[in-house]
Amino acid sequence: MTEEVELEARLEAQDTFEPPESFVEQANITDEGIYEEFEEPEAWERAAELLTWDSSWDEVLNDDNEPFYEWFVGGELNASTNCVDRHLDERGDEVAIEWVGELGETRTYTYETLHREVNEFAAALREQGVEADDVVTLYLPMIPELPIAMLACARIGAPHAVVFGGFSAEALAERMNAANSSLLVTCDGYYRRGDPLDHLSKARKGLEDVDGDVTTVVVDRLGDDAASEIEDELVYGDLVEAHAGASVEPVARDAEDMLFLMYTSGTTGTPKGVKHTTGGYLSYAAWTAHAVLDIKPEDTYWCSADIGWITGHSYIVYGPLALGTTTLMYEGTPDYPEKDRLWQIVDEYDVTQLYTAPTAIRAFMKWGTEYPEGHDLSSLRLLGTVGEPINPRAWKWYYTHIGNEECPVVDTWWQTETGGMMITTLPALNTMKPGSAGPPLPGISADVVDARGDPVEAGRAGYLVVNQPWPGMLRTLYKNDERFIDEYWDEYSIPERDQWVYSPEDGAKLDDDGYITVLGRVDDVLNVSGHRLGTMEIESAIVGVEGVAEAAVVGGKHEMKGEAVYAYVITEEGQEETEEFRAEIVEAVDETIGPIARPEAVVFTPELPKTRSGKIMRRLLENIANDEEVGNTSTLRNPEIVEEIQQKVREE
Ligand code: WT7
Repeated sequence: MTEEVELEARLEAQDTFEPPESFVEQANITDEGIYEEFEEPEAWERAAELLTWDSSWDEVLNDDNEPFYEWFVGGELNASTNCVDRHLDERGDEVAIEWVGELGETRTYTYETLHREVNEFAAALREQGVEADDVVTLYLPMIPELPIAMLACARIGAPHAVVFGGFSAEALAERMNAANSSLLVTCDGYYRRGDPLDHLSKARKGLEDVDGDVTTVVVDRLGDDAASEIEDELVYGDLVEAHAGASVEPVARDAEDMLFLMYTSGTTGTPKGVKHTTGGYLSYAAWTAHAVLDIKPEDTYWCSADIGWITGHSYIVYGPLALGTTTLMYEGTPDYPEKDRLWQIVDEYDVTQLYTAPTAIRAFMKWGTEYPEGHDLSSLRLLGTVGEPINPRAWKWYYTHIGNEECPVVDTWWQTETGGMMITTLPALNTMKPGSAGPPLPGISADVVDARGDPVEAGRAGYLVVNQPWPGMLRTLYKNDERFIDEYWDEYSIPERDQWVYSPEDGAKLDDDGYITVLGRVDDVLNVSGHRLGTMEIESAIVGVEGVAEAAVVGGKHEMKGEAVYAYVITEEGQEETEEFRAEIVEAVDETIGPIARPEAVVFTPELPKTRSGKIMRRLLENIANDEEVGNTSTLRNPEIVEEIQQKVREE
């Protein structure tokens, strides 16, 4: 016991950590000159050179039409060739995807077998009439068919749009309509905590609201033949079998051709269709996986995110496979059948890198050290986190109890829009400071500014901005260039002076060493367990409930989730404020968005705090949710309501 107490005290006092010697000795990037090297945009060729191109680029960066940048202009390549075919000669028999199902069953795809199935499904998609540039929607959970379908789409030049499996039928329909997508790949179900979960009814329900004819392909995950019940649904297994041994020539794509679309939440109720390209995105995903995650072909690398989010796209599928490594994919939850599931997998597969979310680390901490202690985790070489700020205590716990003080921890800041990591330490080069993500990566120019766009002093909070383009950046919002400019470039750019500044909508502060601590969103976007949710989307789901007059959604601090959804609801005349009605509201959020957006609390209130001009004071509602001082309420039209709401929240 005393030993543990000593360790705690030592770590508590320690603010900085040096890269472990054993890691440095073998790291991919050890060259201190790398930051300087990347001051020139030409240095990005180093990222592109990690890939195999059908024809090389003429120009690294075209910035003639800012902020519509183009990268590796004139180059041609195919993403599935890069992630699969080119590894066949040397690594055909090595494992590409190691899949662990929740019930304990496993499936192993070597590069050879992955190549076979990607070709077969690509042939099937073609046969269904899918052509280059047609958007294919993938509404699938964590099963191997998801990355296979992504790569099959990439092979024939059809952009994919993956919709997170936890999203609702309505959310699926909205995204399919926005993308004009007429082919859907989904599945009958999947397992959660040992029980089969129906997915197909959700997909079918969503399809009722999709405009135009849709071809549906269903993966039979549960083995119950539900997939073939409906006549006009195609069964994935049948399609692949019918094209057994097929070979599909990969379509050479222009570097700037769309590789995929990914919908993400913004300030308004309509999700944004973030467009990523083939050349820039793939180079960036591969480069950051190489430089930050230190991935080598012989590794067994594991990112525990869901492929339905950008983290899974870049760091389960595209980055790792482009580098020819083994990427592990896990279907289930970390606490089933026991709270040591992750550690058991690390032990069994000799996982070398683990990339996970702070929300998960906080849960591991709470469960206790006995779970990791029961397993041999010595195969681990590097640890990573992503999705939200990590508090120093959780960082140190991860570093000690999972990494045994021998693995660098990379706290990686980035977004759906950035395509890959932007701010983090290079694991063999930089001192680690728990709680601070680190300096911007080589070639990334980030700063912290005030509302006027002027840099703020070290230690002061301000707005994070990015001052230079990078290859992984989004190119636009799907079919909406105007919104692209509005959302990301309008705030701090000075077009007359050719100054284009990307605005990620995060608060941050810089320290004297140029390290950036990201504080959280500054717009109406919540971060619940590392998942991004728009308050407006949740509000519109709630006001859709009959009996609701008005709703305001804010984030309240939550020990495990980071942030939790707080909904303040005004009912219509005659609508009773009952528990049943509360349940109805929660249900509506489930159905319109999905369980991840479920409110932690629904607070009925006769009014919302508003300014004299009628604007809802969200800050104040956040303070109330967090049981914090509300400060000056004299600018409110209805200051008396504040105390009333506080009372109600405390009663909750
Ligand atoms: C938002 C982006 C990046 C993939 C997962 C989330 C927050 C992300 C960190 C970090 C502090 C972080 C930001 C960002 N965020 N990583 N290491 N430290 N905050 O992607 O859904 O597009 O959300 O997540 O607020 O803007 P996303």
